[in-house]
Amino acid sequence: MDILTVSHLSKTYGKGDTATRALDDVSFSVAEGEFVAIVGSSGSGKSTLLHLMGGVDRPTSGKVLLNGQDVYARSDEALAVFRRREVGLVYQFYNLVPVLNVVENMTLPVALDGRPINQDRLQGLLDKLGLRGKEGYLPSQLSGGQQQRVAIGRALMNAPAVVLADEPTGNLDTRNSHEITQLLQDSNRDFGQTLIMITHDETIARAADRIIAIEDGRIVRDERIRS
Ligand SMILES: Nc1ncnc2c1ncn2[C@@H]1O[C@H](COP(=O)(O)OP(=O)(O)O)[C@@H](O)[C@H]1O
Ligand SMILES: [Mg+2]
Repeated sequence: MDILTVSHLSKTYGKGDTATRALDDVSFSVAEGEFVAIVGSSGSGKSTLLHLMGGVDRPTSGKVLLNGQDVYARSDEALAVFRRREVGLVYQFYNLVPVLNVVENMTLPVALDGRPINQDRLQGLLDKLGLRGKEGYLPSQLSGGQQQRVAIGRALMNAPAVVLADEPTGNLDTRNSHEITQLLQDSNRDFGQTLIMITHDETIARAADRIIAIEDGRIVRDERIRS
């Protein structure tokens, strides 16, 4: 079953002489449980595409369907709720809240939603992500690799329809890059978590089931490397 469908998606930033067509008529579908890597050079439109799949920005034209629902038919308020519940975002620079500890960061989207915390899931994630014993630490007391583990935990807490990661290993050394990639791959294999990850590193992209390459806002390659 397709969980995500991107249909004739385009995004132009700015107007007139300064307009940039960042995304140009992009269409593809992602099956539930798939792990997709998006590759492409800097400025090719990868982050724009990821943000549009996550309800972070609105497209100039085209549609995104997640779980059969038209993401951009929603009001801005409904879109904010959608992002918290249905999408897990992981960024290059972690985007943790500096004054909140590990557990508070991981459970923030659930807390903002006013919903109860699934303790089984939280405890399982703390173990799986190697954060046991660090529950009360602030981001500033953690290494980059550990901060990214917290960000992954936050993304996975809700069991979202899709996890979207934008260069999640871009700020990490080789060893941590491979560990973070492994954790993302495990979340896909163990929980069947649908996962879309941007990377400029072909080696890391090879952890995925499928690689989509983007140039100048268009898909130039869409290749299944694992069934
Ligand atoms: N908020 C923005 N305002 C104007 N131009 C933007 C904005 N975000 C991205 N762009 C432009 O859109 C193009 C694609 O950017 P982006 O999606 O960030 O590419 P990538 O993530 O592949 O490096 C680039 O030319 C970039 O300069
Ligand atoms: Mg980018």
